[in-house]
Amino acid sequence: MFTNFPLFPQQASVQAGQVDAIYFFVVAITAFFSLIIAGAIAFFAAKYRRRHDAEVGVAIHGSLILEILWSVIPFFLTMGMFAWGAKVFFDLYRPPAGAMEIFVVGKQWMWKIQHMDGQREINELHVPVGRPVKLIMGSEDVIHSFYIPAFRVKADVIPGRYNTLWFEATKPGTYHLFCAEYCGTKHSGMTGRVVAMDPADYQAWLSGGSASDSPVAAGEKLFQDLVCNTCHIQGSQGRGPVLTNLFGNTVELQDGGRVTADEAYIRESIVNPQAKIVAGFQPIMPTFQGLVTEEQLLQLIAYVRSLSAQGTAPSPAGTAAPTMPQKSDQPVQEPRKPGR
Ligand code: CUA
Repeated sequence: MFTNFPLFPQQASVQAGQVDAIYFFVVAITAFFSLIIAGAIAFFAAKYRRRHDAEVGVAIHGSLILEILWSVIPFFLTMGMFAWGAKVFFDLYRPPAGAMEIFVVGKQWMWKIQHMDGQREINELHVPVGRPVKLIMGSEDVIHSFYIPAFRVKADVIPGRYNTLWFEATKPGTYHLFCAEYCGTKHSGMTGRVVAMDPADYQAWLSGGSASDSPVAAGEKLFQDLVCNTCHIQGSQGRGPVLTNLFGNTVELQDGGRVTADEAYIRESIVNPQAKIVAGFQPIMPTFQGLVTEEQLLQLIAYVRSLSAQGTAPSPAGTAAPTMPQKSDQPVQEPRKPGR
C-alpha cells in the first residue's frame, strides 16, 4: 500500500502550495548566503594567504555603505520571511467558516474518528475533495500529534483540551497519517491513512458505511443514560442551568466573571463542574471525570451544541444532512472558536 516513501510528499491540499513556497524560499535564501559566505572564505583564504614569514597585513578602513547594505538587505529579507510565514501560519490555523467538522480522539495507540453523520473509523479518515474540513481533536491519554504530510498540516492532540486542525484536500488519493509526537512504546505504529474522495464517491462511502448514531444522537442518549436530564431540565426550573441556546453564548458566573460557552467550557463543566459555577446555581453537580471517555465527551458536546442555533454544525453541502434535531429555518452559523 505505502511501499514508496518519496523524498518529498506530494501536494494534496490547498495549504500545501503555500507551505512549500515559503519553505523553498527560506531554503533558497539560506543556500544562497551560505554558498556566498563559504565561497568568499575559501577565495580570500587562498588569495590573501601569508606568502612569507615576514609578511604583515595591511590596515583596512571600514565602509559605511557596505555596512549599511549588509544590515538593511538581510533585515528586509528576514522581515519578509516573518510576515509571509505569519500569513501562512494564520491561514493554517484559522478554519474557514462553514468547514465540515469531524471529531478525532487520539489514544495509545490509535486514531478514533467520528463523523457527524455517525460513521466511525479507526486509523482511517475519509474526506471529500474540494471542501474545507475542520477536525476537533482531543486525547484520551497523552499528547499525540495529528500529521498529514501531503496536506502539510500537523497539530498536537492534548489531553484535557481541544485542538482544531483544518485542511481542504485537492486531489483524490490515499495519504499517510502519522502520529508526530512520541507517545509511548507503539508510537511509531500509530499511523493510518487519509482517503480523499470525489464528493460523489464520498457520498457513496457515507451512505454505504455502517453508520451508527450520529454524535448528536449518541450524546442525547448519553445525556439520558447519565441522568443529566433530571437536573438540566429544558426550559423550566431545574437544579442545573438550562442548556438550550447555551452554546456560543456568554455565561454569567457566580464569582462575577463571564465565559463563552464553547467546547472547552462545556468539557470542563462535565469533568470539573466546580471550576465555573453559573450565577444563581449551587455547586452540586458531581464530576463525570473517568465516567465518560473522550469520545463520549465529544458526543455530549455535540448534543449541547445541537440545542443552540449558534452551535448547529453546518450541514455538508452536497452530502446527506446530518441527523441533528435542529430547526431547519435557523440560519446556519459557524460555532464560536475556543478562547473567543
Ligand atoms: Cu501517538 Cu505518537
